Amino acid sequence: MEKVKMESKDIIQNNIEKIGRLFPNVITEIKDEKGNITRAIDFELLKQELSDEIVEGTKERYLLTWPGKKEAIVLANTPTNKTLRPVKEDSLNWETTQNLFIEGDNLEVLKLLQESYLNKIKFIYIDPPYNTGKDFIYKDRFTVEKTKYAKKSGQVDQEGNRLFQNTEYNGRYHSDWLTMIYPRLKLARNLLSEDGVILISIDDNEIHNMRRICDEIFGERNFVANFIWRKSKGSGNDSKYLMVETEYILLYAKNIENVKFNNQVVDIDGKYKFKDEYYKERGGYNLEKLDRGSKGYVESLDFGIKAPDGTLIFPNNRREKYNDGWRWVWSKSKVEWGIKNGYIVFKKGKGNQWNVYCKNYAKVDNEGNPIVRTKLYRNHIGFEENILNIQANHEMKRLFEGAVFSYPKPTTLLKHLISMFYLDNEIILDFFAGSATTAHAVMQLNAEDGGNRKYIMIQLPEPCDENSEAYKAGYKTIAEIAKERIRRAGKKIKEETGADIDYGFRVYRVDSSNMKDVYYAPDKLSQNILDELESNIKEDRTSLDHLTQVMLEAGLELSLPIETKEICGKEVHFVAGNSLAACFDEDVGEELIKEIAKIKPLKAVFRDSSFSSCPDRINLEEIFKSISPDTQIKVL
Ligand SMILES: C[S@@+](CC[C@H](N)C(=O)[O-])C[C@H]1O[C@@H](n2cnc3c(N)ncnc32)[C@H](O)[C@@H]1O
Repeated sequence: MEKVKMESKDIIQNNIEKIGRLFPNVITEIKDEKGNITRAIDFELLKQELSDEIVEGTKERYLLTWPGKKEAIVLANTPTNKTLRPVKEDSLNWETTQNLFIEGDNLEVLKLLQESYLNKIKFIYIDPPYNTGKDFIYKDRFTVEKTKYAKKSGQVDQEGNRLFQNTEYNGRYHSDWLTMIYPRLKLARNLLSEDGVILISIDDNEIHNMRRICDEIFGERNFVANFIWRKSKGSGNDSKYLMVETEYILLYAKNIENVKFNNQVVDIDGKYKFKDEYYKERGGYNLEKLDRGSKGYVESLDFGIKAPDGTLIFPNNRREKYNDGWRWVWSKSKVEWGIKNGYIVFKKGKGNQWNVYCKNYAKVDNEGNPIVRTKLYRNHIGFEENILNIQANHEMKRLFEGAVFSYPKPTTLLKHLISMFYLDNEIILDFFAGSATTAHAVMQLNAEDGGNRKYIMIQLPEPCDENSEAYKAGYKTIAEIAKERIRRAGKKIKEETGADIDYGFRVYRVDSSNMKDVYYAPDKLSQNILDELESNIKEDRTSLDHLTQVMLEAGLELSLPIETKEICGKEVHFVAGNSLAACFDEDVGEELIKEIAKIKPLKAVFRDSSFSSCPDRINLEEIFKSISPDTQIKVL
């Protein structure tokens, strides 16, 4: 019996837990004054979370650290003034699609998506650079290839970042990689829904650090599995000592209590092999003895059952009632019901004695209720299933004439991972998209099961090596390969299945802000840029560019339907019906404002410079106040 505690709740531990829910990474272990190990807050890290400067400090505590960790936290928390610009010409079915392909550094993109996709993504898969020692990196990008590096060694890239090889010998082998991955995972966590999961491909090079870093960012308690994927059979020759045939996929939840697996439907024919007259409604069955000696004697479950020849049978082949530890597993009334309804079978054993069995049917439980029999997924992949890395190269070769991309994952792997969860209508995010295997797998699964899963792919426009097959085939960047793959894969799936699914995608590209510097730092204004004041918006930007920036800031998903209408001779955009109305034309007149207000949009955005004078702007507010007082008005 539980004892009355006679003391108040441990408020401190309670508070530590509360902070841990917000910042799982600041939870650590220290020695208390009695020398016991206890959970505590790492105040240095918490301070770092709340500061945009690097905070210094040392104290012995349990933590994963490396030179650059504080910088990584600052990197995650520093806002970006970049934006996304729509690229309609690269998109497919722009008007109707709900899929996105975003070109750019995922650090910037993840920051830009924070408002629109906060707590909205149920499934993230990433296949980041594994830090194999062959990666050539610069700044925090792990993208530059060996040959390219060899050519450029000692030089700087267009943005002035110095390139270096990330080998063990430079002493920053793990640190640079950790600094790269840490802020991205931190930002990704914010996007996960409360029942969301993240799956991360990784191999022996960084599995230990990836696990520690995920424990820190997602919380150790939210670790769900480390899948071992047997990616090759008999052909793993990556190591000189052993045949390395496996790699890993780590699975973490935003909150482990909310994770729901879409468990596999059991192969009902193998296990339930017998058939009777009820086969159509109950499926096949197997037999299980009705008595048990391991569950403890229960007097009421020790009774005689009449065999077909009239003899009375008791548990453990007894002919009468007494306590030898054995009993039936069904009650007397249930046995009577079972005999009447064909759930009980009598069979003679070797010693010519009667044995009593109950039937376990595939499609009903032992009370006759319909059920779907499922089993848990295993924590390994590819041992039984035919999910091998080699398929990935074949897939690419079937879509393209040559090997245009190194190290893609097979779609079978992605299909397997995605199928583990209920994701119909959900968004699947991959922010190290590579050749967009994830998008391909999403389309294929939707075509097979009629699902409506949507995807967001993020991929750096990493240049293809000039000597590569991809470059020779006309693809300048990996993002170009990925977009073309989605187009080709979609076409193939449509031809093969005829499925009526979303094959399109909207393309967005990271670019500098639509606003001039003066917009962000008006105090730094000097006389010689006064002429720039005429407009704080860059001249080369379109109204769709502005709309995108406004949507991101307003927290609207980029896949929402956009309608553009001409009202009073001006272009007006509407997002998701009346969620947002935006007009970026100059000289917006009273008549147009009234027309827009009549639609009662939730938000309305105009260009600041459209209003030649202050009274005009006051007028705008007055019109909305009288026609649509709930509309939130903003100006660019
Ligand atoms: C291992 S590959 C992913 C392969 C992918 N799973 C597939 O099946 O094609 C990793 C990809 O991440 C991309 N990448 C690396 N750093 C990036 C960054 N900062 N932002 C976006 N993509 C990045 C690389 O260009 C590379 O194509």
